[in-house]
Amino acid sequence: MKQEALFDPVPEPPAHRDAPTDGLDALCQAAIECRKCRLAETRKNVVFGEGNPKAGLFVIGEAPGADEDAQGRPFVGRSGQLLDKILLAIGFERKDVYIGNIIKCRPPENRNPLADEIECCKPWLMQQLDIINPKVLLLLGRVAANTILENTQSMASMRGKLIRWNGFDCFVTYHPAALLRNPNWKRLCWEDVQMLRAHYDKVCPNG
Ligand code: URA
Repeated sequence: MKQEALFDPVPEPPAHRDAPTDGLDALCQAAIECRKCRLAETRKNVVFGEGNPKAGLFVIGEAPGADEDAQGRPFVGRSGQLLDKILLAIGFERKDVYIGNIIKCRPPENRNPLADEIECCKPWLMQQLDIINPKVLLLLGRVAANTILENTQSMASMRGKLIRWNGFDCFVTYHPAALLRNPNWKRLCWEDVQMLRAHYDKVCPNG
C-alpha cells in the first residue's frame, strides 16, 4: 500500500492543547473518521472512549482488543470485566469515571501499538483530557504509563505512588490483562487503587 493511502491527511487530529474544543461529541465525530495511521485499514470501529464527561477520574488503557473493536466501546472483554471489579472494589461504577485508551483502533492480532501509531493517536487523548479535565488519572500498564508520562520506566518504578504530570495526579498500576495472566500482581494492584481512592477523596471531596 502506498504511503499516501496509509497516512491519509484528512481529517487531522487536533493539535495537543492548541485546537478549539467543541466538546466531546464533536471530538468523537472527528475521531471516528480518523485515517491518520495504518490501523484505519483493519479496524472495525474506532473506540473513542466513554463514561462521565465530568469525571474526576480518567482511566487509560492501552488499545482496543477484539471485543472492543467489535463493539466500539472500551474495556468490554475479559480485561474490562476485571477492570469493572477493580473499580467497584474502590467504590466506582463505570458511569462515575471516564475510560479510554492510548490508541483508539485495534492493532491487528493485538500486537503492541507501534510508536508512530501512538504519535498519530495521542492528540485525540490529549484533547479528551483537556475537555474532561479530570483531577486523577489511572494509567493501566506500562504502555499507557510510559506514553502519558513520557518515560521508559518500569512498572515497578512507577506504581505505588502519586506522580504529578501536567496538572494531573497520576497513579500507575498493572493492566487487567496482565493481572489475568499473573494473578500474583492483584495484591499490588489493590494497594495502588486503594492509594488512588484515598487521594481521590482528598482532591474530589464531592465525588
Ligand atoms: N485492553 C485495553 O487496554 N483497552 C481496552 O479497551 C481493552 C483491553
